[in-house]
Amino acid sequence: MKTADAGQSTFDPARALPAAAYRDPGWLAAEKDRIWHRDWVFATTEDALAEPGDQVPVTIGDQPVLLLRNQAGELVALSNLCAHRGTLLVEQPANARRIQCPYHAWTYDDAGRLVGAPFAPSGVIDRSAHRLPTYRVESWHGLVFVSLDDGVESLARRFALIERHVSAAGIDALDHRADMQSAETWACNWKVAIINAMESYHLFKVHPETLEPFTPTRDAYYVAGSARATATGGAFKGQDDYLLLSLPPGFVGVLTRGSFVWQAVHPVDSDRCAVRTGGAYASHRPASPFGRIGKWLGRAAAAAYPQPDFLREDKAICERVQRGVTGDFLPGTLVPIERVVRDFGDYLNWRLNDVEPPLARD
Ligand code: FES
Ligand SMILES: [Fe+2]
Repeated sequence: MKTADAGQSTFDPARALPAAAYRDPGWLAAEKDRIWHRDWVFATTEDALAEPGDQVPVTIGDQPVLLLRNQAGELVALSNLCAHRGTLLVEQPANARRIQCPYHAWTYDDAGRLVGAPFAPSGVIDRSAHRLPTYRVESWHGLVFVSLDDGVESLARRFALIERHVSAAGIDALDHRADMQSAETWACNWKVAIINAMESYHLFKVHPETLEPFTPTRDAYYVAGSARATATGGAFKGQDDYLLLSLPPGFVGVLTRGSFVWQAVHPVDSDRCAVRTGGAYASHRPASPFGRIGKWLGRAAAAAYPQPDFLREDKAICERVQRGVTGDFLPGTLVPIERVVRDFGDYLNWRLNDVEPPLARD
């Protein structure tokens, strides 16, 4: 991918981001180039690719990617564009051993090798030159991430600082539920939405009835973090404390004993983003994982956390920020409870401006 000029993306991470960060197409171009097309991007959860042959199309930055589980049980990420004339190969989740283009039926195996091209006399097509590109794919506690850059550091390194906190909070006892995900478009820059999801500062004001009574702002605290990932925590009425994971660029999840509710954000354009929500729950699956009882148990667990109402409130305040930041806006100072936002600023400076991130604080 070509390198966009990121020089205009400078800012002070101790302050809010400048208006240009939320409005300037130059910022978005630099972010696509240096973040969405080079860093790890959350794609889906592993349960969506449970069986060999399962295929899930996703978009990473501007690149259509096909995630699949091959016959050996490994996760594979391929370009989802036909190597003939660029047709989108797979549009809906499917299960198949091969990938066949709907246009002229060129056919690929699950490693992206071209294995069939109808009406092409032998020798006309160099099959090795028409292989689907492959990308990095790794899974972390059931969360599947893709990177278009082969040289990206491993997820183990990326999340090392928060690993023990996440494991200790019992994430592996929960079942991810891809069938309960939802997606919508918010009229705000992607950074407005993800910063809002990261910080617990706004709970008392934006969510006085939905979240504040359960998880009050005053009881939120910082656990461990850096530009790579941050864990914060807080009291959760009647339960063990929650753990909030902020995984830049676009993933935040709230982990409790019985649930992991997450939000994933991806840019659409400068002032719109796609917001996906999903979760993992302590539902014991019956014999058929997607049977009626399993779904009912999952929904019951999901309903225990008042997700829909607080999401409406977050969407409204984020879109209001987007309508605001312009004109003579001078970025304000972040307060101590927003330390995770400072970590995210360090992340942006690292990726966009090659500023080596500060050593992890623990
Ligand atoms: S575009 Fe895919 S086979 Fe022609
Ligand atoms: Fe919120």
